[in-house]
This record gives sequence, C-alpha cells and structure tokens, in this order.
Amino acid sequence: MVAFGVIASVIGIAIGLAIDWFPVQGSTQGEKIDTFWDVLIICSVPFFVLVVTVVLFAVRDFRMRPGQENLDGPPIHGNTKLEVVWTAVPAMLLVGLCTYAYIVLDDIEKAPAKGPERVVKVTGEQFTWTFEYNEGGKKFKTAQLYVPNGESVKFDVGSKDVIHDFWVPAWRMKIDAVPGITTTYRITPKRLGNYPVVCAELCGLGHAFMRQTAHVLDKAAFDRWVQQQVQRTAGGGAAAGGAAGGGGQSASADAKALFTTGNSAGATACGGCHTLAEAGTTGAVGPNLDQVLKGKDEAFIRESIVDPKAEIAKGFPDAMPTNYGDALSGPELDALVKYLAEVSK
Ligand code: CUA
Repeated sequence: MVAFGVIASVIGIAIGLAIDWFPVQGSTQGEKIDTFWDVLIICSVPFFVLVVTVVLFAVRDFRMRPGQENLDGPPIHGNTKLEVVWTAVPAMLLVGLCTYAYIVLDDIEKAPAKGPERVVKVTGEQFTWTFEYNEGGKKFKTAQLYVPNGESVKFDVGSKDVIHDFWVPAWRMKIDAVPGITTTYRITPKRLGNYPVVCAELCGLGHAFMRQTAHVLDKAAFDRWVQQQVQRTAGGGAAAGGAAGGGGQSASADAKALFTTGNSAGATACGGCHTLAEAGTTGAVGPNLDQVLKGKDEAFIRESIVDPKAEIAKGFPDAMPTNYGDALSGPELDALVKYLAEVSK
C-alpha cells in the first residue's frame, strides 16, 4: 500500500506541475503566485492519494463477502497515537502554508522601494471600466488600460453602481470594485503585449461584455501615448483637429474609424455591438442603427451616445456604457454624431 501510495503521489505531482493551469505570466507578482500554486499542488496531492489509497485497499481487503451479511465488525476502541498524528500533521501543514501565503501576500502588496509610483484610478460601472491617469499633473480618462513595462503601477479601484471585480488574469491580481470604498492592488508588468481586462463579479445583464484590454508598452511608446492623450483631452490633437476641421471626406472617414475601431483612448468601437450598413458592422448586442436612427436628428444621436440611459430601444438591455462623453474628445464626438446622422438618413 505504501509503495502504491508513493508511486501514485509522484505521478500525481508530476501531472499537477505539468498542467498549464494559467494564462501567460505577465507580472512580477505572478511569479510568486504561480510558485505558491505549485507548492500547494506538491503538498496536497499526497494527502489526496493517501485518502484514496486507504479507501481502495479497504474496499479490496475488508469488503463484505457472501455469508457475512449478519456479522459485526471487530470492536475498535480507537488508537490515541494515530489520532494525535492525524491531527498534528495536517495542523502543522496548514499553519506552514498559511504562513507562506501571508509572506507572499505581504510581499506582492508592498510598495516599490524607490521612486514615485504611478497610480491609475479604475472605475467600474454597468458595463465598462474607465481608467483615470494623472501623468505629471496632466489628467485624462481612457477606456482601455495602458501601462509601461517594468514599472510598478498602483490601481485605486472603485465602482459607480454595483460590485464589479477588476481582473487582468495575466497579472494574476484581482480585487472587488465596491461602491463607496477604494480598494487597491499593485502590479509590475514584465511582458509586452495586450491582455484581457475582465470583470470577475456577476454584475448584471452586460457582465460578460465588461471586457477591455490592458496594453503593456515599452517606456518610449507609453510616453508617446500619454502625449497623445494629453493633446486629445486638450482638444488640440492633430487627429482630433483633422476630424473637426477637415470636413468632407476626411471627417467622415475618421468618424467611421471611430465607429468601427475606436479612438486612441480605446473608446467607442460602436460596431462591436451595433449594426450599421455603411460601416459594414454587424454587432447585435445593441439596436441596429440603420433602423433606430432613421429620421432622428443630431441632438437625439448625441444624447444617445453621451447619456444612453435617457431612452432605451425596446427589447434591448440597458447595457451601453455611460462614459463615452468622457472618452471621446469634443471634436471626435461632433464628427461621430455628424457621421451617424448622415449615414442613417
Ligand atoms: Cu461588472 Cu461583472
């Protein structure tokens, strides 16, 4: 039985460590969390094997055989030594693992030793995330998350309505967004690329659509992006200026890009949810704009973008985010409204 248990434990641990449990590891905090997971596998597999092995051998050797239906088992008065062992060993293991878990948690929550730290304010609402930056005194809001690689960033997480949960699986850390309080965690990204940002708390009809993207850029690209956002927010950006003042072909081309793929802050991309023949989009989460915007004026279209709760199309969920007024610059919003009014006539 011991030989069987040892072999099964070794195989179980090998399988446990070989399985690719998690998405790609994108933060320094993730290293410690993944190691902790491996330690848990190594410690728990032998206990699982012990219990299953004893049950299997007991079934084989002590099962009831024909003719034994009315026999009683031997009288057992317990075994003090055995009881002490099976209480003490799991207790020591639990205390040990709790201590290790506490050390890991304390370590991954610690502020970086030197330098000022970037703080990004994360606000959840039904059904979107908004990210608020303060880069050298310049404040702006975006609908997609951008962070520079290798620099610690602290997230101050809050909610406008119900409980959400801010989670980037590649970074491993995750925390509830609770109305009325600010929760925090910090991560140091260590891998360039784009990773899903998801909501991990059932928050209503649009919960499954509460997905955005975290972009990890190198420092130079991040600085350029910040520059772009500062200009966009000030309304003086080349792109925004072009959309507003260019008129004609270029304005409608830019507005169409806003509609299909969004601006540099990652806002809109309306086509992901809405059908619009002119833009070639086929989203079905929200109403078909060719139908609901027919005959509507620019004021109605503007209100529908900035304050989507004002009038909700019959048969559709109240799922459109309310942060587009913040995420679009004035000229971008003007261009988008003009475009939608023209193509839905
Ligand atoms: Cu927000 Cu689920």
